[in-house]
This record gives sequence, C-alpha cells and structure tokens, in this order.
Amino acid sequence: MEWWAVGGYICLLCFSFLSTARGSPWMLSFQPGTLYHYHYALAVQLGPVASLSPSGGWLRAQAVVKMHQLHRDPSRDDLLQVQIQDLKALQEPEGTGGPPMDIALNKELQSDLEKPVFISWSSGKIKALYGDETESTLITNLKRGVVSLLQLQAHTGTIVEEDASGSCQVTYTVSNNSIVKTKDLLSCTKPKMGYASVNEMFGIQWQPSSRSLYVVKDSLLQSVLAEENHTLSLVLRSTTGVKISSRQELKLVSSTSGPSVAAEQSLENMLAGTEGQHQPLAIASLPFRRGCTHCPSLRVYLKTFDRQRVKMDVSKVATTWQFQRFIQMLRGAKKRDVLQLLKRAPEDMLPFTVEAAVAAQSVPSLAALSDFLDFSKEPRSLLETFLYAAAFSPRPTKELLRLVLDKLDGKQMVPEVRDTGMVALGSLVGKLCRQQLCGLQEVEHSMETILTGLRSAEKEHEAVTHLLALGNTQLPSTIPTLLEHAEKGPTAVTAAAISSLRQFPAQHITSEVKRAMRKIFHEKRKSYEKTCRLAAAEILLDNTPLPMDVINILLAAHQLGTEAATFLLLKVQSSLQANHHPARKIMNDILRDPRINNYNHFSKAGISSSFSGPLTATKELLSTFGLDLLFLEGGFLRKSVSDFSLLSHDWHLRAAQVTIEAQGMESMLGENTLEGEEGPELTAGMSAIFFDVQLRPITFFQGYTDLMAKVLLSSGEPTSVVKGNLLLMDHHQVIPLQSGLQAVVKLQGGLGLDISANVDVNIWEQELKTSVNTKGSLTIDFQAELDAPFLQTTLRSQTEAETSVYFDTILRFSSSPVLMCLQLREGQVPYREIFTISTSAGNQSSTVRKGRQGTMPAREFALHQANSEMCRLLLMAEEGV
Ligand SMILES: *[C@@H]1O[C@H](CO)[C@@H](O)[C@H](O)[C@H]1NC(C)=O
Ligand SMILES: *[C@@H]1O[C@H](CO)[C@@H](O)[C@H](O)[C@H]1NC(C)=O
Ligand SMILES: *[C@@H]1O[C@H](CO)[C@@H](O)[C@H](O)[C@H]1NC(C)=O
Repeated sequence: MEWWAVGGYICLLCFSFLSTARGSPWMLSFQPGTLYHYHYALAVQLGPVASLSPSGGWLRAQAVVKMHQLHRDPSRDDLLQVQIQDLKALQEPEGTGGPPMDIALNKELQSDLEKPVFISWSSGKIKALYGDETESTLITNLKRGVVSLLQLQAHTGTIVEEDASGSCQVTYTVSNNSIVKTKDLLSCTKPKMGYASVNEMFGIQWQPSSRSLYVVKDSLLQSVLAEENHTLSLVLRSTTGVKISSRQELKLVSSTSGPSVAAEQSLENMLAGTEGQHQPLAIASLPFRRGCTHCPSLRVYLKTFDRQRVKMDVSKVATTWQFQRFIQMLRGAKKRDVLQLLKRAPEDMLPFTVEAAVAAQSVPSLAALSDFLDFSKEPRSLLETFLYAAAFSPRPTKELLRLVLDKLDGKQMVPEVRDTGMVALGSLVGKLCRQQLCGLQEVEHSMETILTGLRSAEKEHEAVTHLLALGNTQLPSTIPTLLEHAEKGPTAVTAAAISSLRQFPAQHITSEVKRAMRKIFHEKRKSYEKTCRLAAAEILLDNTPLPMDVINILLAAHQLGTEAATFLLLKVQSSLQANHHPARKIMNDILRDPRINNYNHFSKAGISSSFSGPLTATKELLSTFGLDLLFLEGGFLRKSVSDFSLLSHDWHLRAAQVTIEAQGMESMLGENTLEGEEGPELTAGMSAIFFDVQLRPITFFQGYTDLMAKVLLSSGEPTSVVKGNLLLMDHHQVIPLQSGLQAVVKLQGGLGLDISANVDVNIWEQELKTSVNTKGSLTIDFQAELDAPFLQTTLRSQTEAETSVYFDTILRFSSSPVLMCLQLREGQVPYREIFTISTSAGNQSSTVRKGRQGTMPAREFALHQANSEMCRLLLMAEEGV
C-alpha cells in the first residue's frame, strides 16, 4: 500500500473517531411535548449591481415561530408542528432613505400564514413536510423557508440535502457548539422551469453563495443565521445585473411545556388528529408564476391594428423594441389571433411579423405559421425570412425544427429556398444538440436529410449548400465527411468544406483534420486552387499551430506567388499582434529566424493584406475587426473577407463575416494571364456568416453577359445581405431563495440588422469599389423580480443603442502600381439606459426611475500606415477629377 493511502486510512479513522466522539453530546432534539418559541427575522434586498441605478430597499419581516414536538416514534423520528405567528413586515423605500413603511397584511393572508405545517424530523434531518396543498404557493414557500432552517447535521461532512432551494450539495463544519453549513447553490436540482440561450455569451452569469451558522447547546437549537447572496449579470456586460441578499435568523426565546401528547400513536393518526388539511408536500419550493397585469395583448392590439401603421426601419431602436413587444404579445396569444395578425399584416410588415412569431416560438405561434406559410406560393424573400429567423433562434425547440422540416419535406420550391432551408436546418440541429437534444427523432431526420442531399447532389452548388449546412451543425461527427469532400472535391466543393471546418472551435481541429489540411496546402495528392490552399493554411494557423506547420507554411509560401506569400506573412504577423492568439510566442520565435523570414522570400511584397485589430474592449468583451484581401498577381481582387468577432470569457463568436469573391476580372481587361489558356469565368459573389450561422451564398453575376445585364438594369442600389430582426438573448431563470421567497431573472435582447453590400466595377475608370454597410440597433431588457406573499418588487434595466459601420474599398487599376484604399468608419452611436424599480406591498406601490443617455462620436479606424498613404493619393486623385 502506498504511504498516502495509509495516511488516508488513518485520517478516515481519526475523522470517524472525532465525529463519534463528538456525536453523543451532539444529538439534536426537541423535548417531547415541549413548546419552543423562536424569534424569526427575515431581511431581503434586490438591488442593481451598478451603483448608478437606484438601489432597491430592504424588505424586513419578523415573527414568532412556535415549534411543538408532538410525537416521537421508536425510530426517533419526531413529528414537529411549526407555526408562524404575528408576522409583521416593513419595507425600506428605495434610494430615498425615507422611513420604513409598514406593510399592511390583510386578515386572510395573516390567517393563511398562521396555519401550521408539520415535519417529520430526525435529529436535524427533515424527512417529510405536511401542509395544506391548496394554499397559495408563495405562502407555503415562506413556510418551507422557515422549515429549511431546521435542516442540519451535527457532524462534519458533505452530503446532498433537500430544502427550499432544492436538492443541493452542502458541507458542514462542526466546531465546539457551532455548525457552519455551506450550500453549493450551483449544484441544486429543482423542478425544471425557465430556459437559456444556447450561446452562453448571450446568457447570464450567476454567482451564488449561501452560508448558515447554527448554535446548539445541550442538544437544543439555540439560533440560526442563514445568509444567501446572488449576483446575476449579463455575460457581455457585468454592469447590467442584480444583487440579491437574503438573511434569515431564528433565535430561541423560551420553552414551555405544552399539552402532552399520547406516545403510541402513528404519525398518520397524529396528523389526522390535528386541525386543518395536511397532505405531504415537496420540501423544495415550487415555482410561482406572476400574473401579468401590464402585458400587451394581441387581442387588444388587433382591434386597432389597421389604424396603427408601424414604421419599420430595422436599424432604429424603436423597431427593435416593437419587435420585443410583439414577441411578448405573441407568447401569450392564441393561434387564431396570431393567424389573423399574419393575414392582416400589410406586405411591408409581414417579414417583421413572421420573425416575431418564430422568435416567440410558442406552440400557437408555430401552428399559425404552419397554416400561413405555403412554400409553393409565398414569395421567396418571405420564406427565406422565416427560415433565417428559425436559424437564428437563440434556443430553438423541437417544435420549431419540426415546422421547418415539414415545410421542406418533399415539396416543390425554388432552389434558393431549398438551399436556405438546408443551411437553416444545419443551424437548428447544432443548437438542439447543444441543448442535449441530439437524440430527438426530428434531429436525426434532419441530419439524414442533409446527408442524403449531399450524397445525391448533382450540381456543384447543391453539394456546396449541404456542406455549409453540415458546418452549421458544428457537430464533430460531421468532420470526416467534410474532410473527404475537402480533399476530393472540385474547387467550389473543397472551398465549402474547408469553410465549414473553419466554423469549428479549436478542440475539434484534431491532428487528423490538420493532416488533411497539410495535404491540401502542400498539394501532396493533387493540386488545389490557391484560395483553397490558403484557407487550409489558415486552419493550421488559427488552431494552436505547431511550430513545424508555421515554418512549413512560410517556407512554401513563395511558391504561391507574391500576393499569396504576402497574404500569408501578414496573416501570421497579424495573428501575432492579436495578443489573444494562443500561438503568439511560437510564431514570434519563428519569424525571428533569418532562414525563414529572409529578404528573398518576402521582399517583393504584393498588395494583398491581412489585418485584424480591436474595435472596442471592455472588461468582459473584446470586439475585433479583421480584413483579409487577396489579390491576383495582376492586381485584381480575388477575395475579400471582413470579419466582426466577439470574444468573451474564452468564447469566440463570429458576429458578422462577409466574404466577397471575384474571378475572371483579368479577362475583362483583355489581359489573359497565360497565352492560349481560358481564364476562369467572370463571376462575383458573396457569402456571409452571422452569429455563427453560415447563410446561403449569393451570386452577384456569373459571366460577362450577366454582368452587363445587371450593370444596365441595376439601380445602383446595394444588394441586401441581411435585413431583419432577431432575438439574440432569451433567458428566464427562477431562483428559489432559501428563505422561501422567489427571485426570477428575465433577459431579452433584440437586434435589428440591415447589412448591404455592393460591388461596383467601372470599366472606363478602371476602378473597382466594394462596400459593406452595416446598420444595427440593439435593445436589451433585463428584469429581476422578487416575490413574497406580501410584496412584489421588479427591477428593470432597459438598454438601447444604434450603430452603423461602413466598410469601403476602392481600387484603381489605371495607375501603376495599383492604388487601393480601405476605409472603415463607424457612425455616431446614440445610446440610452433606463432603470426602474417598482414595488407593490400591502396597499401601497411605488416606482422609481433613473436613466442616462448620450452619443458616442463617429470615428474612423486607422487600419495600417501604407493604407492611409494610398487613401490619401486615391482620394486626392478623385477630387481632382
Ligand atoms: C394602507 O393600510 C394601512 C393599514 O391598514 C392604512 O393605515 C392606510 O391608510 C392604507 N393606505 C392606503 C393608501 O389605503
Ligand atoms: C472551543 O472550546 C474550547 C474549550 O471548550 C475553547 O478553548 C476554544 O476557544 C473554543 N473555540 C472556539 C472557536 O470557540
Ligand atoms: C452576503 O453579502 C454580505 C454583504 O455583502 C456579506 O456580509 C455576507 O458575508 C455575504 N454572505 C455570503 C454567504 O456570501
């Protein structure tokens, strides 16, 4: 036996010795027939985490708690009657520092509160609770809170124990005549209620703590002080949140002999002999649902609907708030009313209504959508709105997936809608799996649909769609399929498979994936198009790269030509600058090696670039902007990727990534690169990822004729990439406090997004302009509620902001060298925050409101020195014309 094992045994022995040694004077009991009077005090506060907002007042209550040992059976199980009497409550008003106000309790409430409960109790352990099951939940919960104070043990150790908080892991530390109980509130299991966003970044951070101090003398419980704190705040913004503090105290005042009780009765007989109703009750608090008095009703809304024309500008916060109100309204509505809303909505409001109905996700809303949407009739754009709304759902349900599956199943529809349907299906599958719902029949059926579609794909773009759908699932089980297509496919298929692999977090980029990427980059088996090789290299570089890979990539880079080599070198360097990159040190060492970073390899720098830098940084959130530009040797743009990412607590979210690709530009200027060789067809297209969902790729034009038709017919308007509202955050959490009070935290975050892109080729000026314009509005509604039988408090924080980001590139071929200018600008950002605390207690109610607003000035981001120089030249030339 190892020495430590021996030590362990000895220690186990000494612990059991200690606990038995202390065990005997530590029997906990109440004397038969004796009536104990305890003084009970409760103090609870719900307040904001930020000092800026008004602070919630304390709720205080005190009472006499009477405990009467009615019966003890031979196995030493006591039947205890616990009764709360003379409860008085008062409320210290919020912020104002005014005098505390008595809360008037009506007669009925008083008498319900005084109805006793019974517990079967054995030396500190509550085995069962009996009471009136018809009583209001909040009143019984308060009694559960008092009873929970009697749940203790007289020896050190960790066990799972049940009380008002649920079944939780608790640790006891016993010393002299005091016992400390620490409860791990994160371990509690309780009746399931509520929901959370799949993406943890859009959720809530919950930090609870609970500690109780018991004093026992002569086997009798003298006092208890139970303290519990909770901090709940947005993951992305810790200053929006609440603190909940709760304190319960019980102090022995006196003991008198009560009416004596017959010894031989059974527990059931004893209970039957007492007054009132007593059914066995759960020891854990039951969730209480607050009635909604000010909730908007769809019924009422529909009455005046035709007169209310909402102006729908998705980039305005007013629209996003309206979106959130709609969701609330639809969550409480009947199918008939939702259907009526959909049927009566004017055309320009219909996408908004469909998005709200999907986000509401109630069974009646989904049923109404199912009736309303006819996939063989509705216009393509509305069907795509529906499918993307489903794909962006923050916490899709199986019913939503079933609806999408039903609509896609075997029906005739335009190919674009089917493609969008597939990528949406992939996203839904991924999100359901992350909610541990991978085993659902609907999920399995969806996977089959995608895989069958992939196997039977005849056209290239069909294979591409299904591979992108697999990428949206982010399921590691799809990786082998993706690898197979990456290695074998024609260019478009390889590109799609690699792009899907890039959706996966680093832990899934295994050595097998890396091996395949090396094969592609170094062209071990067959040759690949340059952009595919670069994408493979990026996977190797982005996921904890091996030094060997970095070296080999840099050494091989020059074979790819000046532009690709420049691109790769800058990629490595920009990864270095981003200090969050895990391989920063390795790459630094490598780049200092003169054999690798030498004059010959990288002196003939091209104009391709790779840039990434922070946009904003707070304690919990870093947002970055990245831009990759890859040119062909002749100076033609081959590919541009602009990326907005969010990094928080080790999570990485691709908030928006827009890729514009162009091919065959050189043929347009009559500059065939190689004699007699047919260059690639003239095409330009775009693909985008939003919130980790890859959308269906869009083609701007394919072929010269198509380009000309589009140029001639074009209104000069940019193509809309995404326009609509989505629910980013959707969270509902019920926290039963040990005191029996209930806290509920609700979070809803809405986003209005309008992104458009444009590629403008001016053949006469020999200019190429691309622009990606993003306008967005964000609204966050955070609410925390506290419910007691005699008080309701709500703390609400409403935050809103509008933003616009413009990203433009101008490229002029007429001059030599080619001039290129990139501009990234952010418009003014108006924002507003409003805090409200409202309380109603007894016959009084009050509301306190506080807020702030402002505007962050517009700004232009300096990208890099060389770029600023080029922009100056180009813009000067423009002005000169
Ligand atoms: C509320 O109740 C208290 C006590 O019953 C009473 O004194 C007070 O006048 C009541 N206030 C209102 C506004 O009704
Ligand atoms: C525990 O009791 C011993 C003697 O009974 C005393 O000396 C010691 O200070 C006590 N410790 C605490 C932590 O109260
Ligand atoms: C709860 O918070 C109060 C005030 O900040 C603190 O004094 C107390 O120790 C905390 N209790 C627990 C169990 O964390």
